[in-house]
Amino acid sequence: MVCAILVLESRSTMANENWALRGNLLDFTGEPAWAQVQSPQVRWRPDHWLLVRGHRIEAVQAEPPGPDWRRIDHGDRLVMPGLIDTHVHAPQLDVLASYGAELMTWLHEYTYPAEARFDNERIAHDGAQRFIRALLRHGTTAALAFSTVHEAATDALFAAAHAQGMRLITGKVLMNRHVPPQLQDDVSGAEQACRRLIRRWHGCGRLAYAVTPRFAPTSTEEQLAMAAELLRDDPSLYLQSHVAENQAEVQWVRELFPESRSYLGVYSSRGLLNRRTVLAHGIWLDDEDRSRLQAAGATLAHSPSSNLFLGSGLFNWRQAREAGVRVCTASDVGGGTSLNLLRNLAAAYQVQALLGQRLTAWSALHSVTLGAAQALCLDQEVGRLEAGCTADITVWDWAQDPALEHRLALTRSLHERVFAWLMLGDERLLRSVVVAGRVAPDIA
Ligand code: GUN
Ligand code: ZN
Repeated sequence: MVCAILVLESRSTMANENWALRGNLLDFTGEPAWAQVQSPQVRWRPDHWLLVRGHRIEAVQAEPPGPDWRRIDHGDRLVMPGLIDTHVHAPQLDVLASYGAELMTWLHEYTYPAEARFDNERIAHDGAQRFIRALLRHGTTAALAFSTVHEAATDALFAAAHAQGMRLITGKVLMNRHVPPQLQDDVSGAEQACRRLIRRWHGCGRLAYAVTPRFAPTSTEEQLAMAAELLRDDPSLYLQSHVAENQAEVQWVRELFPESRSYLGVYSSRGLLNRRTVLAHGIWLDDEDRSRLQAAGATLAHSPSSNLFLGSGLFNWRQAREAGVRVCTASDVGGGTSLNLLRNLAAAYQVQALLGQRLTAWSALHSVTLGAAQALCLDQEVGRLEAGCTADITVWDWAQDPALEHRLALTRSLHERVFAWLMLGDERLLRSVVVAGRVAPDIA
């Protein structure tokens, strides 16, 4: 019911005109090979027009469109698909940059108290609005996000995304042990809340539901079994959680699930690992874990700024790719320090450098556009600048200050230029964000 009303509202405000945007178009036709700066999968279309009709891209062409297309000329600017964040926590804008703790202390000192406040409807509503707007202001037009344990806060989050026409996958957090009492749910209450939320929001416009056990230590056997049953009942649901982020956490999971061969094994042996599973971190996995992830077609959401900030460890991206595991890059705010995925990709480059590897700009950007869309089974809709896709688009300045402009002028190839832009740029370079064919207000 709620959904139907919101769809009508958002349609009526959706641009129903034809318009076209000009700039230098960058996207991917497939996954660029690791460490190759020359890649046939990079699609670079300088000085092209993107034609948008309603909420879709109608055509991409070099010649200007006819007079019935309103034109927005971005000249030399960089045009990319809207960025996709595959792991982020909506309530955790409130704990960004909290000082001095590793994962478990950080959760108890900062994060759980902040999430407990989302019990209050006003705080939940304002927090949801703030989060969705913040994503857009950082160039993110689609996300797989954690809500809190609260059903009403999750409703508020879905509604806020829906009002912006945004692609959001989220779910009520499941946690029935080892968290403060005011944040604990119980199996049957949680199941009913999940089923209500799924009925209200899953498949409503651009929204989808993710079953969201926080991480193995905060769910009992019974709750994990209930999560698996939800997935069995509707295979179009997503599953999001955390895995093998921090060594003390891995040890704790070993003690809580002594029969399990590994942390990942807790999820895989309970039917929680499939093509629509996205697990954050995955730093401390072994070969068998990687091979199970690969076989399931599941995704690791590498969260580099979070891993550095919380001191969790260095994720070996190349090793995961060589095992055939899908890898995306995510912000993991508020463990992560920025919602802007360019900042997180710069951190990802530095992490790989510490491991003796080099991440190209192509692998990096692919992991937050087409690669992320594929991970979420949404590549027919987002992640590409192509006729038929939903018009989720970002437009970026190359530089705003003379020093960056000077540096970019010295680059000798497209990869050098995009790489320097990626390492040095951030959301202040974002000029325009288009969500489902509509230019989002309040950007830049
Ligand atoms: N593990 C369980 N919960 C969380 C969380 O909120 N953030 C991070 N980074 N790891 C977690
Ligand atoms: Zn997280």
